[in-house]
Amino acid sequence: MEHPPQWTIERKRDGTTLSAEEIRSFILAYHRGEIPDYQMSALCMTILWRGMNPEEVSALTSAMMESGQCLDSSSLSQPVIDKHSSGGIGDKTSLILAPMAAACGLAVPMISGRGLGLTGGTLDKLESLPGYRTRLSEQELLAQLAKEGCAIVGQSEQLAPADRKLYALRDVTGCVPSIPLITASIMCKKLSEGLHGLVLDVKVGRGAFMKHMEDARELADSMIRVGRELNTPVCAVISNMDHPLGHSVGNAVEVQECIDLMQQGPSETPLWILTRDLGARMLQLAGRCQSLQEGQCICNQALQSGAVWAKAEAMFRAQGWNGEALPQAPLQVDIPSPQAGWVQDLDAEKIGRLVLLLGGGRRQVEDQIDHAVGLSRLCQVAEPLETGQTLATLHLRREDQRSEATALLLDAIHIGEQAPDPSTLIYETRGIET
Ligand code: URA
Repeated sequence: MEHPPQWTIERKRDGTTLSAEEIRSFILAYHRGEIPDYQMSALCMTILWRGMNPEEVSALTSAMMESGQCLDSSSLSQPVIDKHSSGGIGDKTSLILAPMAAACGLAVPMISGRGLGLTGGTLDKLESLPGYRTRLSEQELLAQLAKEGCAIVGQSEQLAPADRKLYALRDVTGCVPSIPLITASIMCKKLSEGLHGLVLDVKVGRGAFMKHMEDARELADSMIRVGRELNTPVCAVISNMDHPLGHSVGNAVEVQECIDLMQQGPSETPLWILTRDLGARMLQLAGRCQSLQEGQCICNQALQSGAVWAKAEAMFRAQGWNGEALPQAPLQVDIPSPQAGWVQDLDAEKIGRLVLLLGGGRRQVEDQIDHAVGLSRLCQVAEPLETGQTLATLHLRREDQRSEATALLLDAIHIGEQAPDPSTLIYETRGIET
């Protein structure tokens, strides 16, 4: 006999562990519209306060996957591996990583999201390329994966639909920051891609969702556990998001930075170091290298040989890019350093806020973004500076944005007289031996 939904809410409220079947029937009934939003949000709030044990989180993830269809990747000959980042300012690794992994023999069905709030979204960045389509049918996606080895697309209607409904509800009921709910939300989408392995880039710091190391570790371990329970090897890198990643923040400017890197080859920049590390871990999960170092060499060679750019161009064109140039903002203004010294600090959160104010991000899900605005040639922490040297180039839509944008940029950069200690890019890894 079916129990009324409030019994499940009450049991979680009182600290009882829910059974897998109880979680499954609650989620599937919510998906079918048989449980109203107010009962679902009450359950989310009790989960936020009471937490969930690993078995409950796995059951929640499985139920959300069951609400939709999984990608049937069995026709693909390559190992199917993906990466997920918890999001950060200037985080553009996916744009290089997907074609790089494909150039190294993997298939990457990367289902990505849009930016909301301060952190940018891969889909928004890619839509700077004139004609790029983020919606592919399952047949188109599989055909592209078979031919090119990679695709970066949005979440389809069929993929974990319960998560889409639930995420919107959590967003307006204060239920986003719960590790069990975040774990299930991310993992149900990723595991619906029919993966053989998943690499997580969990960002920690001012420009990230997770501000503290303990939370980042807890999230990473929770996602690794769910992967293990659901038979998918998962490893995680915990990386620094106190500073923006790379020299550009925005949409078209970030795509341009990736194209430049792919065309110019390896350089010891944080963007390449992190991308190469994540790529090497994807190769390790696929059994394509014996060690992290060997994986890094394979990635370096792929970039050096031009194979990564060739793959990226093929993917962009397969998804509709017509070869036209990226949009340019009408006004590009170099901001000079007011003093000589060293860049001591660059505040990712403040830079993210600046790009949002310029129109490069969205405050509400339905907002339109301006792909052309943002900043490029951003100086890096520990870089020496002369007075008057460019700190960054602002890409502005209107002249009246100039003075506030300049003030915000200067406020985000701290220049001092001493060279600072170098900042750590990758704090630690979890989940697999290296
Ligand atoms: N990203 C998701 O997909 N879900 C969350 O809950 C948080 C971040």
